[in-house]
Amino acid sequence: MTIETERLILRPFLEKDAEDVYEYLNKPAVNCFACMKLDSIREAKKEMLRREKETEYYFAITLKETGKVIGEIDAYPETGEPHADENSVKDTFSPCWMLNKKYQGKGYAYEAAKAFFEYLFSQKGARRIYAYTEDYNLSSQHLCEKLGMRREGVFVEFVSFINNEDGTPKYENTVQYAILKKEWNH
Ligand SMILES: CC(C)(COP(=O)(O)OP(=O)(O)OC[C@H]1O[C@@H](n2cnc3c(N)ncnc32)[C@H](O)[C@@H]1OP(=O)(O)O)[C@@H](O)C(=O)NCCC(=O)NCCS
Repeated sequence: MTIETERLILRPFLEKDAEDVYEYLNKPAVNCFACMKLDSIREAKKEMLRREKETEYYFAITLKETGKVIGEIDAYPETGEPHADENSVKDTFSPCWMLNKKYQGKGYAYEAAKAFFEYLFSQKGARRIYAYTEDYNLSSQHLCEKLGMRREGVFVEFVSFINNEDGTPKYENTVQYAILKKEWNH
């Protein structure tokens, strides 16, 4: 599956993307992506081989003009309700988005996310899309708002991605945004 926008092509990852991905995942920009850190090009290649199989829900954000991978976006179907049984409909999605720092502030994240949301709502049965973002992550919150998502609340000391210097978990405050298919009019 590929998704085309004015300046971008969203497509599944390929082994040859290893260097471009290493460029931004060698130092993940935010704590919630700390576990995605890649320590070498070799590790990046291995990760690309794993991602190659993901053809519906995990996309490389590439520049149409040069083919460079400048970031990524993904979201998988979930039931959306934590106590739902296994037969419940999976109509809820929670995207992760990330751009190489060099390509931020150019409207690419919005362009990619808007096309990805349209794909989820129109082709993948999405009823609700929600996003978690840390309270200090203003660029991600700005992106949610630009996409028309509602700020639904703040979960205080909700999750820990890294430890404090004394080894105790460092808890972060998480903001939740969401939008329903019937609210989507981009
Ligand atoms: C979150 C993230 C993806 C947002 O990326 P971004 O580059 O700030 O977002 P956009 O692509 O929408 O660009 C924003 C700005 O680009 C500017 N811009 C420049 N040229 C533009 C153009 N041709 N078209 C549109 N906007 C343009 C605008 O000023 C826009 O700001 P505005 O919305 O106030 O108008 C990025 O900050 C990131 O990767 N962060 C690290 C990872 C992360 O935090 N992920 C989320 C974890 S919860």
